[in-house]
Amino acid sequence: MPKIDYLRISLIDKCNFRCQYCMPDGTKLNYVLNQELLTNQEILTLVRDVFIPLGFTKFRLTGGEPLLRQDLVELVGDIARLPETEDLALTTNAFLLADLAQPLYEAGLRRINISLDSLNPETFDQIIGNKGRTRWQQTWEGILTAHQVGFNPLKLNVVIIPGINDTEVLDLAQLSIKRQWHIRFIEFMPIGNPELFGDKAWIDSEELRRQIRQKWGLVESNIQGNGPADVFQIPHAKGTLGFISQMSECFCDRCNRVRLSADGWLRPCLLNETGQIDLKTALRNGADLIQLQAQVERLLLLKSEINFKDRDSGTNGTYTRTMSQIGG
Ligand code: GTP
Ligand code: 5AD
Ligand code: SF4
Repeated sequence: MPKIDYLRISLIDKCNFRCQYCMPDGTKLNYVLNQELLTNQEILTLVRDVFIPLGFTKFRLTGGEPLLRQDLVELVGDIARLPETEDLALTTNAFLLADLAQPLYEAGLRRINISLDSLNPETFDQIIGNKGRTRWQQTWEGILTAHQVGFNPLKLNVVIIPGINDTEVLDLAQLSIKRQWHIRFIEFMPIGNPELFGDKAWIDSEELRRQIRQKWGLVESNIQGNGPADVFQIPHAKGTLGFISQMSECFCDRCNRVRLSADGWLRPCLLNETGQIDLKTALRNGADLIQLQAQVERLLLLKSEINFKDRDSGTNGTYTRTMSQIGG
């Protein structure tokens, strides 16, 4: 088991998209009330006085859609300024990024991962559940602005869904050739939309690699990340291709992260809540921070016994949360 030093912090469970694989239209979501969201001050206290003393140095801000959080830029500044922060990153859908990229960069953020499942505006709108004017253009502008502002690495996350965007694997992979962009293909996980998932809705990463290899060739990259992706490269491309293969190839034994939900629950695993801790209530009841550290340390020890394959053994017997509620 590697050192657990990476905390993913969900800032909000709301999202301005309705991706079919995450929170399809019509999904009844009970959003966390504003007063139940961790405040910036509470997040900072947890990061500085609980997680950093336990050796955490990597932090990622997620959602829902974290750009919907009004006080995001201030929080980025606060975490980036902590001397122990070695890596601070953000995962977003980029719809609101064109205006926020520069202020986020100035606040100290250096890397962003963006979901982009299609280069075709119609398919894109179909996937994100948009029925009005296309949202592809504004999203693409968000990505280009982040690139111009200097975010590096810039990673684009793609979930390939058979029958929807599986014809675009090569077009999306091609984005890594001319720009230093890192395209990551994520195997679809059975969370959020069981109907779309059906019997087997993911395509094995190896099959995607086969298509790419046939067209351009593919070599292992020497730029490996902190995360679960296996990283490859089209020969002479500026960027890389990552494959996140949690369905065809469990990577739980090299997992280095825990997750803090928007309402302050610390969870050991994306799909397993065993031993979760309600840090928000503890903080609001004036808990001693050293004792909280000890509690978190116990959860980290427990984590080595927990993994994705045990996903149905969460505290309530079934797992019904969507990715937006867990913090993707
Ligand atoms: P880097 O630190 O940039 O490598 O990013 P990351 O892969 O940790 O973060 P990102 O938010 O871009 O996550 C991309 C996808 O990887 C998520 O949507 C998940 O599908 C998958 N993923 C990330 N963390 C986990 C995890 O702990 N377990 C599983 N099963 N999948 C994960
Ligand atoms: N399976 C795989 N990836 C998913 N994401 C959201 N839902 C799923 C799912 N069911 C991804 C998004 C985003 C990241 C945070 O989570 O594409 O890039
Ligand atoms: Fe780790 Fe759980 Fe993710 Fe597996 S699913 S890699 S155990 S957090």
